[in-house]
Amino acid sequence: MSPNVYFVGTRCTGCGASFPPDTDILLCPDCESLVDPVYDLERFRTELPGLELDRRPPSIWKWRELLPVSDFEKIVTLGEGGAPLIACPGLARTLGVRALYVLDDGSSMPTGSLKDRSIAVAATKAVEFGYHALSCDSTGNKGASTAAYAARAGLRSIVFCPWDTPLPKMAQALFYGARVVRVRGHFSEVNAMYRRLLRVDTQGKSPWYDCGTDNPFRYEGKKSYAYEIAEALDGVAPTRVFHPAAGCMSLVKMQKGFEEMLQLERIDRMPALYACQSEACAPIVKAWESGAATVEGVEKGATVASALAFADPGLLGNATLATLRATSGGAVSVGDDELLAAWKELGRSGIFCEPSAAISLAAAQRLAESGELDSDDVLVCNVTGSGFKDMETLLKNVVVPETIVESYDELRALVREL
Ligand SMILES: Cc1ncc(COP(=O)(O)O)c(C=O)c1O
Repeated sequence: MSPNVYFVGTRCTGCGASFPPDTDILLCPDCESLVDPVYDLERFRTELPGLELDRRPPSIWKWRELLPVSDFEKIVTLGEGGAPLIACPGLARTLGVRALYVLDDGSSMPTGSLKDRSIAVAATKAVEFGYHALSCDSTGNKGASTAAYAARAGLRSIVFCPWDTPLPKMAQALFYGARVVRVRGHFSEVNAMYRRLLRVDTQGKSPWYDCGTDNPFRYEGKKSYAYEIAEALDGVAPTRVFHPAAGCMSLVKMQKGFEEMLQLERIDRMPALYACQSEACAPIVKAWESGAATVEGVEKGATVASALAFADPGLLGNATLATLRATSGGAVSVGDDELLAAWKELGRSGIFCEPSAAISLAAAQRLAESGELDSDDVLVCNVTGSGFKDMETLLKNVVVPETIVESYDELRALVREL
């Protein structure tokens, strides 16, 4: 074990059972609830000055003592984290708020999406536990990320995804060396089959390390959003943070990360957290609006936000509702037209993302239109995947010039027209 490890084990969020730090665990073996890593935060707080964190480069591992890792020598990294928080004053003016920032994972993560924040941690745990392969169910980005980190760690990777996953995401996973299994069905159906294969049919003894839904170590990587936002804004919290939501553990873990920052006096207050979904697949928004305590599955409709089409998030959805309530946030759904308009607006601000990732801005715009935002608001919109991830939608929305200039004279003539 490395020195300065503050990770002390995991605790079940349902029955409260505790497990030692070296336990390879997904859900609680007793009650099947989500489990949550625990740290000796008080000791960390006292020893923090000596760790000289501020001298470390930007990365999710800058805060490695607050990640569930027992051996820092085994960290698997491709340089993930440290995404830029980009001020967008024009968008802030349009929405009538004091400031609007885009946290741009698409341009800064090694595989071009938020998934690197969490899969880096999962791959590290797989190496700690001695696995030879990583597997996941995915709407595309998690698969690409799992394949990349498996390659980095010298492990095999197996990815299960809906048959109509955007080709660039499948191609990316294949390029890193994954076995990609395309399943006829949408993500919730793939998720159910995958769980049955890995959890039931193997009686929980899968030879592959499961980087899919419910991995408590993987989710912890998403706390890095809170650390990065707190640091980039010098400890002054934004009023609201919007996040594209599927399983939605990003929001749950952002809440945990901000709580840790509060305890360490690195931020002044908790921001309100918002889950943003497509109207065609919005189980969390439906539960939120009806005041339900749990999330029920919905029928998945067609949407351009393919990365977010998780029709039945189950336990994760329930945890998300608790986060939205605890942070006085909310859940917002938008239609594809609003989403594509926000996506293009980000393009005009120099931000190139996949449509799903623009839903955070679309949701903020929806709240602005319904008069729910204040002129004093400081917003952060997490933009979670690169524009290169969905070339099909991109090519449907730009016009590639048909004219091909054959000579300098033609070029001069054309330039005069411009
Ligand atoms: C681009 C993008 N944004 C957001 C999400 C949703 O993240 P979460 O599962 O934390 O809700 C996904 C999930 O695949 C994604 O690919």
